[in-house]
Amino acid sequence: MTALPVPEFVQNFELGAKDFVTAGNAAAKIKIALKQLGVDSKILRRTAIAAYEAEINITAHSNGGRIISSYYPDCVLLVFDDDGPGMEDIEQSISPGYSTADDQVREMGFGAGMGLPNIKKNCDILHIVSEKDKSTFLEMLIYFR
Ligand SMILES: Nc1ncnc2c1ncn2[C@@H]1O[C@H](COP(=O)(O)OP(=O)(O)O)[C@@H](O)[C@H]1O
Ligand SMILES: [Mg+2]
Repeated sequence: MTALPVPEFVQNFELGAKDFVTAGNAAAKIKIALKQLGVDSKILRRTAIAAYEAEINITAHSNGGRIISSYYPDCVLLVFDDDGPGMEDIEQSISPGYSTADDQVREMGFGAGMGLPNIKKNCDILHIVSEKDKSTFLEMLIYFR
């Protein structure tokens, strides 16, 4: 039996609901880590966009959550996990332009409904588990080549 791969290192981030002051910091730190690993700039950009959008979504749409970023020799695995309230319909949420952003979120300049479509476009594997009144679990895998 082959042993499961162990990440070279892991970063953890806690995200507060509607905390727009620090929102984006985790994605910035993930970007720095990838840069230090010498990851290609195109992949760096793709990862940074996807991570930023998922981070903003936890901030804007959830009751708070966390990110676990695991760095492997040939890929990065980003797990976004929050404390609800979940999505009514995952497919609808991913469709371009769909947004349930409230006025506060829109005043911050978010709510164009392009976050999830951009996440999907920029990562190699995307997996979302969510339902109404439950937490949202989103994981994405991005290969370095
Ligand atoms: N973590 C989350 N928890 C609950 N709902 C979410 C979450 N992330 C996204 N959504 C839902 O998916 C919709 C679309 O997300 P997105 O494409 O990023 O657009 P936007 O954030 O601009 O609304 C959101 O408006 C929201 O209804
Ligand atoms: Mg969004």
